[in-house]
Amino acid sequence: MSNHALHNAAEALKKARCAMAFTGAGISVESGIPPFRGPGGVWSKYDPDKFEKGYFKRHPEEVWPLLKEIFYDMYGRAKPNPAHLALAELEAAGKLVGIVTQNIDSLHQDAGSRVVHEYHGSTRRMQCLSCRTFFKTEAISLDILPPPCPACGGLLKPDFVFFGEGIPDDVHRAATDLAKQADVCLVIGTGGEVVPAGRIPIVVKRHGGTIIEINLRDTSYTYNTTDYFLEGKAGTRTPELVRAVLG
Ligand code: APR
Repeated sequence: MSNHALHNAAEALKKARCAMAFTGAGISVESGIPPFRGPGGVWSKYDPDKFEKGYFKRHPEEVWPLLKEIFYDMYGRAKPNPAHLALAELEAAGKLVGIVTQNIDSLHQDAGSRVVHEYHGSTRRMQCLSCRTFFKTEAISLDILPPPCPACGGLLKPDFVFFGEGIPDDVHRAATDLAKQADVCLVIGTGGEVVPAGRIPIVVKRHGGTIIEINLRDTSYTYNTTDYFLEGKAGTRTPELVRAVLG
């Protein structure tokens, strides 16, 4: 990775009036959470069609064991890595206004980040599809699947966005508002293949913002949206960039 790109990216961040970050599964890979696409991706092992809301409602007894395997057993042990910690440090230093994440692992919050818009929801909550009550995941036993709603015995659904589901209005609006104000956006560990989330960096760019991308390999952003491409692992490049900004 050229030091030229690192230097220029750091200069842009130092001068930023309103810097934000847009993150995807790649920022959590070094925390032990596999990405969805690419080598070892979740969708190379599990059929994404089963995580479509209608299929889930028709076959909860089939889908819930898969949900537990992918999103609860593994996520439960995951800890923030140096990339999450570096973003939290940047925010604490007043150089990052907020994060829009596609991830549902809550590792940004665990790292200390305070402004985190969870565009695809979170594994930390569940909602009953009958009585609409929300529950903290830690209050729900996953020994019996599907877990019955403690209030009415109905079907509980994880509070993250399934395929075929819309993005909650409030988080979509907050994320888009931030993207419109941002003059720098760090795009870390995402190929931008899923919309509308993937459009966030495009909104920043359209409003004249500078895009700094950190990824192992080039993506759909690299050649037409990204201004500075820092190739490599998020857990290495992100702290390196933050050191170059904060000293
Ligand atoms: N450091 C930096 N980037 C990495 C690393 C790493 N250690 N490991 C993987 N990557 C990059 C990959 O090169 C790829 O660009 O992270 C990206 C992972 O891509 P996806 O798995 O598609 O993750 P994401 O873009 O977040 O997916 C978006 O798709 O299935 C839905 O809802 C799901 O939020 C998810 C959405």
